[in-house]
Amino acid sequence: MAEQIRVPKGLAGVAVTETSISKSDPSGQLIYRGYPIEVLAEKSNFEEVAFLILKGYLPKKYELEEFSSKLQREMRLDERIYTLMKLFPPNSDPMDVIRTAVSFIGSLERKDSLESKQISIAAKLAVIVPNSHRALLNHEFVKPREDLSYAENMLYMLTSKIPEKEDAWIFERELIFYMEHDLNASSFTVRVVASTLSDPYSSVTAGLAALKGPLHGGANEEVMEYILRLRPEDAENFVREELKAGRKIMGFGHRVYKKFDPRAVLSKKYLELLARKKRDGERIYKVCDMLEKAVWALKQIPPNLDFYAAPIFYLLGIPVSLNTPIFASSRVFGWLAHYSEQLEENKLFRPDAIYVGKKDLKYIPIETR
Ligand code: ACO
Repeated sequence: MAEQIRVPKGLAGVAVTETSISKSDPSGQLIYRGYPIEVLAEKSNFEEVAFLILKGYLPKKYELEEFSSKLQREMRLDERIYTLMKLFPPNSDPMDVIRTAVSFIGSLERKDSLESKQISIAAKLAVIVPNSHRALLNHEFVKPREDLSYAENMLYMLTSKIPEKEDAWIFERELIFYMEHDLNASSFTVRVVASTLSDPYSSVTAGLAALKGPLHGGANEEVMEYILRLRPEDAENFVREELKAGRKIMGFGHRVYKKFDPRAVLSKKYLELLARKKRDGERIYKVCDMLEKAVWALKQIPPNLDFYAAPIFYLLGIPVSLNTPIFASSRVFGWLAHYSEQLEENKLFRPDAIYVGKKDLKYIPIETR
């Protein structure tokens, strides 16, 4: 047997595959298919970036129209998915509802091409996410409208109101930021499942399971819990106490970005814009700003995307329990691009482990144990 190669825990700094989808860089840069995130945030829209991530190039006008109308068409959910969502106990985590619903779609659909499966999964997730919350509250389901863009439609279904243009624009930026981030834990999970030649429904189901954890997507819900609890003048004390107790402050830190997360920098600007016109906005912005300063002063750790996306979603009127599901509804495009890329030059992921358990134990029959 070949000699084992020991790598750092959590595979930090270990390149396990090649990708041309996106790259995050410790200097604070993020590119999607070669385009800086700042440029896409300023000039593009959700459907165009989703096309770019999935297909690798910016679409021509007719390609974008075709792609957008396919997404729109595929938003229609089989009634059995709505029925399934109603079966969950009211205190369930919406991520459990969503994960199960995606898995169920895999049993209902009989689509031929990978592309049609990808579009279907992503489009349906946009409808499942807002309706997972409604199912748990036993509220009536809301269906997408044909006259709204993807982001507008999601915000409409999340809040039951046709969104104002500026609100939808800010929401769309956050969706773009959440769409892709090279080999994060959930995308790696999707690739591991894809490497067994499993189907995209199963791979996305696994991605959802990985995203649910508080060290990954789950952080954006915990962030809002303490932002709402604190006053600006409490921020420094809170940080001090958390650090003293050895607890991690959710929404801070990143495996790649050690100085700043470019998505958080942009999101802070959008939060400031939004905060000016929303009730309680100014206070929330101030709490965030004070927390950011305190964490940097005491531990030199920058905020990540979750830290600023959470208050943006809150001020847009979105229930906090849907923060991670919204992350999923956008990241699904990244996952599906990783799924395809993995299959292009597939090699089964099957690492090794160093055995540190006991050896040569004597088996004692159950009667004499
Ligand atoms: N609060 C306090 N200290 C922190 C934090 C934090 N949020 N994040 C990292 N640190 C500290 C660690 O305690 C450790 O300190 P030490 O060297 O004194 O022991 C040091 O920074 C390195 O931390 P690691 O956890 O080893 O770094 P890693 O690269 O593995 O961590 C991670 C990345 C998991 C995101 C971490 O920063 C964390 O747990 N953050 C909170 C959860 C969070 O916000 N997750 C969202 C990630 S972004 C996203 O999914 C969009």
